[in-house]
Amino acid sequence: MLEVERLTAGYAGPLGRDRVTVVKDVSIRVGEGEIVGLVGESGCGKTTLARVITGLSRPSAGVVRFAGVDVHALRGRALRAHRRHIQMVFQDPYLTLSPRQTVRQALVEPLRIHRIGDTRSRSARVDELLDLVGLDPGVGERRPRQLSGGQRQRVAIARALSLGPRLLVCDEPVTALDVSVQAKVLNLLCDLRDRLGLACLFIAHDLSVVRQLADRIAVMRDGRIVEQGPTQDVTAGPRHPYTRALLAATPTIDLGPVASGVHPIGEHVPASRPPGQG
Ligand SMILES: Nc1ncnc2c1ncn2[C@@H]1O[C@H](COP(=O)(O)OP(=O)(O)O)[C@@H](O)[C@H]1O
Ligand SMILES: [Mg+2]
Repeated sequence: MLEVERLTAGYAGPLGRDRVTVVKDVSIRVGEGEIVGLVGESGCGKTTLARVITGLSRPSAGVVRFAGVDVHALRGRALRAHRRHIQMVFQDPYLTLSPRQTVRQALVEPLRIHRIGDTRSRSARVDELLDLVGLDPGVGERRPRQLSGGQRQRVAIARALSLGPRLLVCDEPVTALDVSVQAKVLNLLCDLRDRLGLACLFIAHDLSVVRQLADRIAVMRDGRIVEQGPTQDVTAGPRHPYTRALLAATPTIDLGPVASGVHPIGEHVPASRPPGQG
């Protein structure tokens, strides 16, 4: 469904200096209803890649195809129609939620912009969206700052779902949340996949988060994908030293001597944090 082929992207250097390449020759695929985890330390280029995939910025080389269509070749009406298919969820829900709007207003807005339905059907759709993300209908009358962090992220997810996308690109959606709340949001994404057949590119800097829900994992370092494969393969038999370092830094592996003497995740690697995590 989503095919990213040999994608390169970056930013113009300051004061006309050379372009800085941040995403380097990245190829990655997400199938229908599949959850793919993209993991790598802070600053490695994950958000830049996500923005190019969702069409928010342009690549300098390579192609992003969705359902066979080159996303960056679309213009005007075709582009607007395409935007409904891929939606992004950010680490900070305030990037999508205005502090002045009630939850209900925030959820109705995309429907109004895309001229979907009438007042009545939009209101019914909002109730449906709140239910879908596990929020009480009463939450609709609140404003973002009257919600917990987890509730706010659920609202951001509901808004991303409002136009019926087939793929969500979630950029560190649980990074700012408490661990107990993180698990609930991860469960929600799995649930949405099961109920809606929704595919997800799930981005995090923490492999222990990604492995909980991803079918496949791609490991990014300094703008490149250094390893990708089924979650089981990548976590049980990592081939790249960097993947091993990431695994060693996750709490599940950092248990010290295990009673049975068998390490829970295959090969033992000294527990050291890769630089710049977080
Ligand atoms: N708007 C921008 N202009 C110039 N450089 C940027 C911009 N956004 C990010 N960068 C740089 O691109 C690199 C990758 O950033 P980013 O894609 O945000 O990484 P990640 O999401 O993995 O933390 C970083 O070195 C960052 O400083
Ligand atoms: Mg980022």
